[in-house]
This record gives sequence, structure tokens and C-alpha cells, in this order.
Amino acid sequence: MIEDLWYKNAVIYCLSVGTFMDANGDGIGDFSGLERRLDYLVGLGVTALWLMPFQPSPMRDNGYDVSDYYGVDPRYGTLGDFVAFTHAAKQRGLKVLIDLVVNHTSDRHPWFQSARSDPDSPTRDWYVWSKTKPPHADSGVVFPGVQKTTWTYDRAARAYYFHRFYDFQPDLNTANPRVQAEILKIMGFWIQLGVSGFRMDAVPFVIAEKGPEVTGAPVEQFGMLRQFREFLQWRQGDAIILAEANVLPRQDLDYFGEDADRMHMMFNFQVNQGLFHALATATTERLLDCLEKTRARPASAQWAQFLRNHDELDLGRLSAEEREAVFAAFGPDPDMQLYGRGIRRRLPPMLSGDRRRLELAYSLMFTLPGTPVLRYGDEIGMGDDLRLPERECARTPMQWSDEPEGGFTKSARPVAPPIRSGPYGYPHVNAAVQRHDPNSLLNWLERIIRMRKEVPEIGWGDFTVLRTGAESVLGLRYEWRNNAVVCLHNLAAEPIEIRFATGLPGEGGALTDLLTGERNPPDESGRHTLLLEGYGYRWYRAGGLDYLLKRSEV
Ligand code: GLC
Ligand code: CA
Repeated sequence: MIEDLWYKNAVIYCLSVGTFMDANGDGIGDFSGLERRLDYLVGLGVTALWLMPFQPSPMRDNGYDVSDYYGVDPRYGTLGDFVAFTHAAKQRGLKVLIDLVVNHTSDRHPWFQSARSDPDSPTRDWYVWSKTKPPHADSGVVFPGVQKTTWTYDRAARAYYFHRFYDFQPDLNTANPRVQAEILKIMGFWIQLGVSGFRMDAVPFVIAEKGPEVTGAPVEQFGMLRQFREFLQWRQGDAIILAEANVLPRQDLDYFGEDADRMHMMFNFQVNQGLFHALATATTERLLDCLEKTRARPASAQWAQFLRNHDELDLGRLSAEEREAVFAAFGPDPDMQLYGRGIRRRLPPMLSGDRRRLELAYSLMFTLPGTPVLRYGDEIGMGDDLRLPERECARTPMQWSDEPEGGFTKSARPVAPPIRSGPYGYPHVNAAVQRHDPNSLLNWLERIIRMRKEVPEIGWGDFTVLRTGAESVLGLRYEWRNNAVVCLHNLAAEPIEIRFATGLPGEGGALTDLLTGERNPPDESGRHTLLLEGYGYRWYRAGGLDYLLKRSEV
């Protein structure tokens, strides 16, 4: 199988076309606008984009309710604009991943419309029906408090249909071979138009057995994942699937495949929750536990590490006590919380806009085992608008400048209200201002991204936890091909002096700070002493040529 492991050392940037940049002035972001911003993204240093759904949709779930898998929603442009965009991205060396939302369709999709109106419809069996209401219909909802049930009666069909998510998102009967064939066709279509893979939505539900008789934990059809991967790679060797699968660590290998024949990448939800627990409590134990539990993976498989995404920060895998600690620190107000399990804010307001803490959080995320995923606006420290419902609060338009509507659109009626006032309003927080300020978050992040790309050890190598003797300090060492880096993060507000050994053969010699060039030599016992400021961080490359030579003799 021809493969290209580009994703091992990538930096992924995720965005919604509709809220990124509006080129034609109708108030809605579009592909032409995105194309004009590609040089900004290349300048930032990201190497791959992940686009949230942009296919035709009634937009009742931010596009995660697709009504035509083979098109571009006219609000965003045409298929022609899409191809112009992928071409322009390719010219600049940017890979494009797109969302693949095939657990369910919109209820407006012609497949569902046909299925519900005629029992003999060719797509009737593409959905999941029941004559009577299944007894467990009210369990297993994904959006508690907003979504009441997973089975809803449809009068035209005279039957209940299954929907894991909202009632306007009927689940596809993914066990049906025709549905499976259609999913492959959809992948093949977009591959042909220039994408390098997919962020596959809700994977555990895609492969779950569905039906009125299914009770308790559904059985997954893992074979399907291999089928998806094989098809993709036979068509295009460097194409990948990045799975959204918030599962327990013992299931990770089921998703990656023991022989690395299933998902190439998975978001590390486990570590994400441990990370926020660490930031909230200034202790590293829980995070280390998450890192250990998700250590095992096939060599070519990769974790995607992230801070916040377009959904709520899901803390469902923490204990009640741990979750309370994160709520207390970052989302004490019930209005900041969502679905009884998460926080719906963006990162900067959670960290009180404190630059030191933001740098710490990003630096930490960039040095966790895997590939970092940024969300648009993170690079300038965008905030949220809690007056907007549910997850919409963290999906406001990109703030480009201090012009009206933050330079996102020339229209006075933007698709979603940009943040206009307050500390996170576009007059203060915008890309144009930050570009001119060498000390801005944007320019800092650009440097961190450059540094991360120069440290392939993190994406490719194995990590070792260093003993720093301080519970607030996370020390990780990565090694790959005779090179090693050491990353240290102090989660606490107070400065701390630590002593540590790198554990490298011959003690690895002096450490060189990748940001400042400063050297930290070992003492006679081979250990290093370091004063870390409150929320301080360091990235060191271990040893010099000497160390390299020693290792390559082995
Ligand atoms: C995923 C998406 C979320 C969406 C859901 C239903 O969890 O991230 O935004 O609502 O799937 O498609
Ligand atoms: Ca537009």
C-alpha cells in the first residue's frame, strides 16, 4: 500500500467557510474569501486545513445536516470555486481535509424524503425504522437538555426513525451495503476534487449496529473502517481519515487497527480532558495518566491534539470531582456549561485572557504526542459570545481588522454577529493589528509553529516522562532517529526551581533552548537545574553533535 505519512508532522488549522472571509459582500463567508486568505494561513505556518461541512444544508446544526453530499452550498460558492480553492491550496503546499458527515443526513435530503414517503422507495432501507416506539427510545441522546429522544415518529412513513443526534438528522443505516457503497463514492468524489482526506464525524455511531432491537452498548462493525481506508488509499496514497471518536483508551486500537489498517488519526479526547484538568488544577497526574493510557498505537497511526474545537469542551470522561474542578476554574457560571458535561467557551476567556497562560496552553498542546490542531481565531486570541445559543457562542466570524464587522464582510448583516465590543471585540482583537506588533499572540504563535515543525521528534517519536520532583511541572522527552527534545511546562502561577535528568545516554550533554538559544549544561551529577517562571515553558534540544555521534554508533 503506498502511503505518505505527511500527517505525522503536520499543523492542522480548522475553519468554517461561512464565518472565515466573505468575498462577495453578502454577509456569508465563501470559498473565494477563503482563497484570498490562503497566504495568511501559509504565513502562519499551518500545513493542513480542515474545513467543516460546506455541502448544501438547511443549516440546523452548523452544516452537520447535509442534504447533498456532492455539492457546495450556494451560499459558499460553486463546485468551481471549490476546485479553484483546492488548487490554490495545493500550489502553496497546503493539504485540505474536509468533514465527512455520514452517520446521518439532513431530514431534507432527497434520500430521506423518498424513504419516508414510500415504503417501496429504493432508499427506504437507507434509514433505520421501527413500527413501534422502541422501549429505550429516550436513552442515548447526545445533546441532553435539548434533544429529548433518539426515535421520532414520522407521519408520512408511519414509523419511527432513529436519530442519534437531533431529530432533523435521521441516521443512515450504515450496515446496508448500498449505503456503504455510497459513502465510498462520496469519498472518491471529493478526493478527485483535490482533498487529502476526511475528518470523519461521529465514527463510533457510524459503525454502531443500529435498530429497534439494539439495547445497551451497540456493537461496532470495525470492518467498515478498514473498508474506508483501503478504498481511500487505493485511490490516493496520501489520503487519510481523522476520526472523531471519543472512546475509552482500551478501544483505541480497535479504531487505529492493530495492523494500522483502520483510522490514520484520531482526536485524543482523553488527553484533551486531562489537559484542561491540568490547566485548572496546576497538577499533572491526571494528564500523565491520560498520556500513558493512550500511549499505545501502531507506528503509522497518529493522535490529533487540540485545546478547543467547534463543540463544547466535553469533560464527560473525568470523574465528577475532577469535572467540578475544571468547571470551577473555567466555567463556573451555569450558562458557560453545556449538556451537563462540558464548557462552551473559547479558550482565551477561560484563561481570563492571560497571555502567559495562553502561551502555556498552546505550548503544551504543541508538545503533546501527536499532531496539533488549531481552531481559527485561536491565533489571535478570539473570545466568545455567550448570548448565542448552545455551541454557537464559539463560532463567531473571524476578526481580521478593526473595520466594520471586523473586516469579515462588507455587508451590515453578517451570517453570525462578530464580537463587536468588550476586551475580545474586533476593535482590539484582530489579525491586522497583531501582524504589526512583533510581540502579539499571532507572531508568537507563528514562531511556535515554526519551532514545532522543526521538531519532528514530537510527531514521530516516543515520549518518556521526566521526573522533575514538582507536581505542577510536566516534563516530556521525545526521541526519534538519534535526536531528542525535552519539553517542560510549569502549570502553576508561582515560579519554581527544578532539577532533572534527561535520562539520555551520557546524560545527553547540554540542553539548548529552541526559542532563545540559551544553553543549560548539566552539573557533575549529570542533572540540570532550571528556574521556570509561573506558567513558564521551555523546549530544549538535547546534546549536540557529540550526542548524535554516540547514538548513531549503536
Ligand atoms: C459531531 C460534530 C458536532 C455535530 C455532531 C452531529 O459531534 O462535531 O458539531 O453536532 O457531530 O453531526
Ligand atoms: Ca459571501
